[in-house]
Amino acid sequence: MPSTFVVTSSEEFENAARNELRRYDSKLKLGETLQPGLFLVCSQLAWDDFAAIVGQEPPIFTRHLFPVMATVPLTKTEADLAALAEAIATLPRLDELSEATPFSVQARLFEEVEGKQLSYAYTPFGIKERLAGVITEKTGAVENIREPLEILSVVGSQGNAYIGLSPAELNLSGWAGGMRRFAKRDEQISRAELKLQEALEIFEVELPSGGEAIDLGAAPGGWARLLLEAGLHVTAIDPAELDLRLQKYADSGQLSHYQGHAERFLQNALADKSRLGSCTVLVSDLRMDADMAANLLVSYAPLLARDGLAITTLKLPHESAKVKPAQLVEQALAILRKAYPRLQGRQLFHNRSEITVLLKK
Ligand SMILES: C[S@@+](CC[C@H](N)C(=O)[O-])C[C@H]1O[C@@H](n2cnc3c(N)ncnc32)[C@H](O)[C@@H]1O
Repeated sequence: MPSTFVVTSSEEFENAARNELRRYDSKLKLGETLQPGLFLVCSQLAWDDFAAIVGQEPPIFTRHLFPVMATVPLTKTEADLAALAEAIATLPRLDELSEATPFSVQARLFEEVEGKQLSYAYTPFGIKERLAGVITEKTGAVENIREPLEILSVVGSQGNAYIGLSPAELNLSGWAGGMRRFAKRDEQISRAELKLQEALEIFEVELPSGGEAIDLGAAPGGWARLLLEAGLHVTAIDPAELDLRLQKYADSGQLSHYQGHAERFLQNALADKSRLGSCTVLVSDLRMDADMAANLLVSYAPLLARDGLAITTLKLPHESAKVKPAQLVEQALAILRKAYPRLQGRQLFHNRSEITVLLKK
């Protein structure tokens, strides 16, 4: 049975997200853009078949998707809450929820892009409260925002609410629209830290609590801080200064800063046989073109232990008539596969004009 999905990507990479989804269903019909980075697609496949194929080889630019099971016209008045509650009471799959099914409700409301329209008389939180109550009343299931097994997604945009109930694992992210936010911490050194935190979560990997780590393009030191906190010994490589808050790690010998270029460090490191395969973590957030960063990562591969963990960002230019970021990503991934055959890329919520890639030898 054909199905419709609401897809979320970053505004900037909506085209790339639309195109990559065709690979899961050659007859995929790309639908209307509800908001920049939020659009509809129609597949010939049933939604769970489509989502299962997507899950086997996850997309890069698509952050979140859910199947549309009901559409409710919105008036933006309080009356909408009753209409939404009525619609979800008859939603397919609601019967499958039981007292043992933790669920969450994720509501997003968008104002019209153009024209002066009424504002909503309710908030996403108001929708969540009302609909979670209905689900619990009908099924006995308990709301669990942190670890839901099932997610009721509601997106209000362009005069309609699109509603779907799906297993969290099929949505590509357990967060509404893939918007993973982290609490601000005083010790945070750079915004870049959030990228590494999100990558570890999305790729479901943990930093080891000991061993050697190499951090390419480390300054001012946000990623290094996370590696150090995990317990790793870190060689931070960057011509720029590190944040002074990392000095205590340098004093204790847990951190060394090679204040130069990654290309230069590599020459010396490869000459030292004891370094080969000695590194348990290799991360790179180099500010350089994606293909150059990929080539450098391939050159660093001999330093990484066989089962070592490597994560890199790949910086991308803005899309134009001539420049297609998705093609540059394909080229860079092809380079990386020479040394890291198992890799997975994702345009994270905390990525700007870049993607993040998990690399395994
Ligand atoms: C986005 S910043 C890294 C932020 C860092 N991950 C953090 O969490 O604080 C990019 C860094 O790459 C560094 N960089 C650019 N080219 C480099 C090269 N060839 N070798 C080493 N570092 C380089 C820049 O100096 C810059 O500090």
